[in-house]
Amino acid sequence: MTAIDRARTILVTGGAGFIGSNFIRYVLTRTDFTGIVVNFDKLTYAGNPASLADIAERFGSRYVLERGDICDADQVHGVFAKHAPSLVVHFAAESHVDRSIHGPAAFIETNITGTFVMLEAVRQAWKDRSDVRFHHISTDEVYGSLGPTGQFHETTAYDPRSPYSASKASSDHLVRAYHHTYGLPVTVSNCSNNYGPFHFPEKLIPLVILNALEGKLLPVYGDGANVRDWLYVEDHCEAVWTILTSGRTGETYNIGGECEQRNIDVVTAICDILEELKPRQQGRYRDLIAYVRDRPGHDRRYAINCDKLKHELGWRPKHDFTDGLRQTVLWYLQNAEWVASVRSGEYRTWIERNYADRNS
Ligand code: NAD
Ligand code: TYD
Repeated sequence: MTAIDRARTILVTGGAGFIGSNFIRYVLTRTDFTGIVVNFDKLTYAGNPASLADIAERFGSRYVLERGDICDADQVHGVFAKHAPSLVVHFAAESHVDRSIHGPAAFIETNITGTFVMLEAVRQAWKDRSDVRFHHISTDEVYGSLGPTGQFHETTAYDPRSPYSASKASSDHLVRAYHHTYGLPVTVSNCSNNYGPFHFPEKLIPLVILNALEGKLLPVYGDGANVRDWLYVEDHCEAVWTILTSGRTGETYNIGGECEQRNIDVVTAICDILEELKPRQQGRYRDLIAYVRDRPGHDRRYAINCDKLKHELGWRPKHDFTDGLRQTVLWYLQNAEWVASVRSGEYRTWIERNYADRNS
């Protein structure tokens, strides 16, 4: 039996964020899972219940939102006592590299301490019920930065270079240590850059789409030649589901889009899609591109090798970048209300401060 066969309740941490909300939607609408999904989320600036409003309405008691902090052991144990989940999928994290440079403390707290608190709760639950499983969501950024050639494999030595990636690396080590030391049944996945609907507009792709629509500058860090490997978020969700249904306990799986793109090419591609879907009244979207001061310690290139997941478990990315990017731009054009709700409040303060710092 797989982790999913046994699971009657899945606890998803960070399910109100970008990937977590897409994952919950995927589980409830695209798989044969018949149990309950509990979304445990602190609802930080990056978490928005509106991302799952339709799911809450459609699935009633099969979808439960519990507001809480993964760093608070009492709250975490309370959720375990109330829902007795047999599978935990751990997305909750501080996720933005630029923020980690300005204020690393929250990254250490949530990504390291929060993961430790989750592991302790799972270990406790597992002592009573041997069917409990933990899946940890991580990033390719733990492997460091590549030159013009080469790829990250599951066996590549960790070399994190930002406070964000260092905190994720630390959490990955903790998860594996709990497997080796206590025998806790865990799996880990390290994924490349995601894009798609419900992406918080501090990250490159949604930021560029929305700035362009508002006639604001499109900030490209440094020379724009840094490379990221882009994966449509639904493909990531499917990969995680594949690992949950057929992955081997104790194993790590890389997930990637096999789609390396230079940042400047991503930005111009968005401009060209917008030019077609919503032509600019004066000038062209490309005129808004502005090369700005580089991110400190900016990793040059990421490229992930996901052969293990492809060959062992039969997963492969289904969306190509041209179609996925177009769908994403269309989604932002059609979801102005969601955009307005996530761009209010604390987010605005942050983005203004970040621009001021970068342009000074
Ligand atoms: P996100 O910032 O959009 O969402 C994070 C979610 O976690 C939010 O809903 C937030 O409210 C919640 N959260 C934050 N701190 C919390 C706490 N202390 N307790 C409970 N909830 C808390 O992030 P994302 O882009 O969806 O990333 C999700 C996961 O995937 C992260 O672990 C990230 O490291 C990983 N990842 C992201 C990418 C990417 O391209 N976005 C790529 C690879 C891996
Ligand atoms: P981002 O979306 O922040 O993801 P990550 O840092 O996790 O890869 O950034 C993607 C790439 O785009 C990264 O190389 C930094 C760059 N970037 C810009 O050039 N301009 C921007 O305004 C942002 C947010 C990112």
